[in-house]
Amino acid sequence: MSETKRLAGEKAIDFVEDGMIVGVGTGSTVAYFIDALADIKHRIKGTVSSSEQSTQRLRALGIEVLELNSAGPLALYVDGADECDPDKRLIKGGGAALTREKIIAESSDRFVCIIDPGKRVDVLGKFPLPVEVIPMARSLVAREILRLTGGQPVWRQDASGKGVVTDNGNAILDVHGLAIRDPLSLESALNQIPGVVTVGLFARRAADVVIVGGEPPQVL
Ligand code: A5P
Repeated sequence: MSETKRLAGEKAIDFVEDGMIVGVGTGSTVAYFIDALADIKHRIKGTVSSSEQSTQRLRALGIEVLELNSAGPLALYVDGADECDPDKRLIKGGGAALTREKIIAESSDRFVCIIDPGKRVDVLGKFPLPVEVIPMARSLVAREILRLTGGQPVWRQDASGKGVVTDNGNAILDVHGLAIRDPLSLESALNQIPGVVTVGLFARRAADVVIVGGEPPQVL
């Protein structure tokens, strides 16, 4: 339970307009947004969800979840982040949902990012950078990331020591020890490695608006 996350999630409702199909991200901050969205569900046409976790929460609250392919371009996407720099570039993927999140962000006219104040940084990279990879390429990608960046890729495992499997059936590498001074170039370079599905850097498609939870919330 985080008060600042709740305040950020609830503030994002200001950006929802009547008749919209709303893109919905993943995570504990977004959970507050979903709960607030339930109160105005009769005003929207539906949602497109970035994860099985968010889909379950949306459906449990009676909010319609549509396929992105039939929904078309979206007016609004609301999602959290693990880090946010002063140019609204983000690290995402702490919840392993980065691929669908990036697809929906790219499909949306406006990306509203909701964070608690602790997520703001000057330089991205203290939070280990998540990279979703095709399972058979895991070691190859790890070696290439080490060679290209000097960062330390770690295969994400769950509490029982099993490799985390994303909603898309892939693995996650978390890259430690980076100070990302040129997020756009790094995103592009890592995207070139065969076997990389998605890099959790949102620099090419950064957020348009950032809401920082607080009393009152700050809209950047
Ligand atoms: C999910 O994969 C992430 O991109 C989340 O958006 C991010 O981890 C933020 O999560 P919290 O809102 O739980 O901090």
